[in-house]
Amino acid sequence: MPAPLLSVHGLGHRYRHHAEPVLQDVGFQVAAGEAVAVVGRSGCGKSTLLHLLAGLARPTAGAVHIHGEPVRGPSARWVVMFQQPLLYPWMTAFENAALGPRFAGRLRDSAAAVGELLALVKMADCAGTNVQRLSGGQRQRVALARSLAAQPEILMLDEPFSALDAFTRRALQVEVRAITKRLGITLLLVTHDIDEAVLMADRALVMDARPGRIRADLAFHHLPDERGIDDPAVQFERGRLLAALGETTEPPQPGDFHQI
Ligand SMILES: Nc1ncnc2c1ncn2[C@@H]1O[C@H](COP(=O)(O)OP(=O)(O)OP(=O)(O)O)[C@@H](O)[C@H]1O
Ligand SMILES: [Mg+2]
Repeated sequence: MPAPLLSVHGLGHRYRHHAEPVLQDVGFQVAAGEAVAVVGRSGCGKSTLLHLLAGLARPTAGAVHIHGEPVRGPSARWVVMFQQPLLYPWMTAFENAALGPRFAGRLRDSAAAVGELLALVKMADCAGTNVQRLSGGQRQRVALARSLAAQPEILMLDEPFSALDAFTRRALQVEVRAITKRLGITLLLVTHDIDEAVLMADRALVMDARPGRIRADLAFHHLPDERGIDDPAVQFERGRLLAALGETTEPPQPGDFHQI
């Protein structure tokens, strides 16, 4: 078996002045190119976990390794996208998307690539528009182009679409999966949205709360790469995920396809 891209061992975290740990003994591995969703109730420690994975905070126990190297801080090899896109309001969509290459001093060489990324996220027509004049969904698309312009190995998402309307959210869920698969980027997503997990991931890690732990590791073996929420197989895996979260009493059986 190839070495995992990301591995987490005995990870724990306790915030200062808190008696109880938020995370305890969290362990899992992620292979290169995999799309993994971490699913759990609000407050179970998903954002804390993502911050530890990204090196934005230091764990109080255990370790995170990427390519076998301990994560000690942020890196250009992985990018995090948050619920609210962090864009510079006085810049155009292109200027925001091109920030990474500009800071790296290679904007001249990368301008065409940034233009292609804006086209990939369906924002080519708005390249010259000031981001203050864009909708929330369009801003999130620009933030995605900016994240991709950094050519990360891992894209980490913290409920990035939860502020968007249902249609925009659904479109971005499907597109982000397709784009990361096409570019070979490993996707790590934390969410409490079951549909989002089943639409975007190859595998879901189900978290318990207080302390946050991985309760189940569910592979979506039977889902096609391109999927829609109405597909019977998607609905079946959705039922398995709900059961793993303890939201239903019985996990679905293979013959239940049509009933769920
Ligand atoms: N900076 C902090 N200092 C102290 N406690 C914190 C801090 N950040 C989060 N917590 C606590 O840690 C727990 C987990 O928070 P976290 O934000 O990781 O949960 P979450 O699963 O991402 O929730 P949500 O789905 O609502 O985003 C919560 O009880 C929260 O109050
Ligand atoms: Mg959170």
